[in-house]
Amino acid sequence: MNVLHICADPMPTEESAPKQLAVSFFRTLAEKNPEVEITNMDLYENPPPFLDYQAIRGFWFPVFIDGHKPTDDEQLAGAYGIEQGEIFNQADVVVLTVPMWNYSVPAILKAWMDQVLAPSVSFTMDKHGTRPLHKVRKLILLAASGDVIAQDDERDALTPVITHAFADAGIRDLSIAWADGQYAFKYTDAESRKAMAVDAAEELAEEVLEELSDL
Ligand SMILES: Cc1cc2nc3c(=O)[nH]c(=O)nc-3n(C[C@H](O)[C@H](O)[C@H](O)COP(=O)(O)O)c2cc1C
Repeated sequence: MNVLHICADPMPTEESAPKQLAVSFFRTLAEKNPEVEITNMDLYENPPPFLDYQAIRGFWFPVFIDGHKPTDDEQLAGAYGIEQGEIFNQADVVVLTVPMWNYSVPAILKAWMDQVLAPSVSFTMDKHGTRPLHKVRKLILLAASGDVIAQDDERDALTPVITHAFADAGIRDLSIAWADGQYAFKYTDAESRKAMAVDAAEELAEEVLEELSDL
């Protein structure tokens, strides 16, 4: 089983709730199945460029315009997405470690998604629909927020963007462990909320191994 870990949190682990969920998730995964292959992609070490006109032409114009073939310059502009897409397409499971920033995902993750969730990178797209080029069967979101923001809260713009963007790429199996209420100055139970989410991350790792036991 190949697991790709996309980390979009710049904080050191000891100060980061999402990263502590990730430690719990990956420790359990490795302990219960040492054969699992884990690829760590820290976006702060491998930052994605924002999509520019040339990259959009390279990725999207073959869908928009009949017969458009990306030029060398357009392909070069999409090099980050193509390279990351090759790694993404090898994964059976993708884990996103994500703090809530301004109610959504950090811009660095959104920029990575714009690069990788693109036609000819991780799926093909035409008038009949999209077909995956990847084999991802499960998406895991390890998140944290300062405020108490339950899923389906109208302030939550993080879960919807992950849910819909990855669903468009053909990935609909999403599981979430979320440490909310992490503003310790505001919530006296911030630590116990994190501890519950750490346990939930551990349980998610067990679920992944059980559900994908054929791999
Ligand atoms: C730039 C920034 C924006 C944030 N925006 C929100 C927000 O909109 N809602 C919220 O509940 N918490 C927000 N927070 C708090 C974080 O979600 C919280 O600290 C969480 O634990 C993030 O993970 P961390 O532990 O790695 O910092 C924000 C924090 C930062 C640094």
